Amino acid sequence: MLDLPVLAPSLLSADFSNLAEDIKKIEDSGASLVHIDVMDGIFVPQISFGQPVVSSIRKCTKLPFDVHLMIEHPENQIETFVQAGADCITFHYEASVHHHRIVQKIKELGAKAGISIVPSTSVDTIKEILPYVDLVLIMTVNPGYGGQKLIPECLKKINELKKIRQENDFRYIISVDGGVNDKTLPSVIEAGAEVIVSGSSFFSGNLEWNGKFCANIWE
Ligand code: DX5
Ligand code: ZN
Repeated sequence: MLDLPVLAPSLLSADFSNLAEDIKKIEDSGASLVHIDVMDGIFVPQISFGQPVVSSIRKCTKLPFDVHLMIEHPENQIETFVQAGADCITFHYEASVHHHRIVQKIKELGAKAGISIVPSTSVDTIKEILPYVDLVLIMTVNPGYGGQKLIPECLKKINELKKIRQENDFRYIISVDGGVNDKTLPSVIEAGAEVIVSGSSFFSGNLEWNGKFCANIWE
C-alpha cells in the first residue's frame, strides 16, 4: 500500500534566477515529485518556460518530473519534453481533441500519461479516457497563475474519481492543483487527494509538509 498523499511543489513559484537552490528546497521538504508548469500564452495568458529549462534542471535532481502542459496542441511537444526529462506528461482535456492518441504517444515514449481538467469540466466529461491514464489532475483554480484561491466545489471530483476507479479497477493517481496552503491543506487531504501540488505557499514557507515520501507513486 502506497503512503499517500504526497507533495509535488510547483516550480512556477520558484526563484527562476536560482532554480538549483529551489530544487534543493523541494528535495529537503520530503516532496515526492516536482510539478513543472508549462504555459504557452494561448491556452493560458502567460508564458512560463519550455524544454530547455526542463533539461537543465533535470541535472539537479532524481525526483520525478510531472510536466503540466497548459498549452494548445500538446501533441506537438510531448516527445521533446520526454527527451528533456519528463517522467509524466499531463495535458489538458480542454486543449486537445484526440485524447487517446496523445495518451498513447506519451506511453510509447515511456512516460506516464496524465489528463487535467479545469474547474468547469466535469469528471463525467473525461470518462472515456479514464481507463488509459496514469494520473488525473484536478485543477482547483483556473489555470494560468500561482497564488489563486482554491475553489472548494472542485474537491468533490476526487470522490467521483475514486468511485469510478474502484468500480472499474482503473489505476490512475488523483492529483489536486491550485490554492493549496496551510489553511486549505486539511480539506484537500480530507477530500482524498493523492498528489498535492503547491506553488506559492510552498515557496513562501506557508506550507509545511509532514507527509510521507514515496519514491514511485505508480508502484
Ligand atoms: C496554475 C498552475 C499551478 C500553480 C499552483 O495554473 O497549474 O501548478 O503553480 O500555484 P498555487 O499553489 O500558488 O496555487
Ligand atoms: Zn500545475
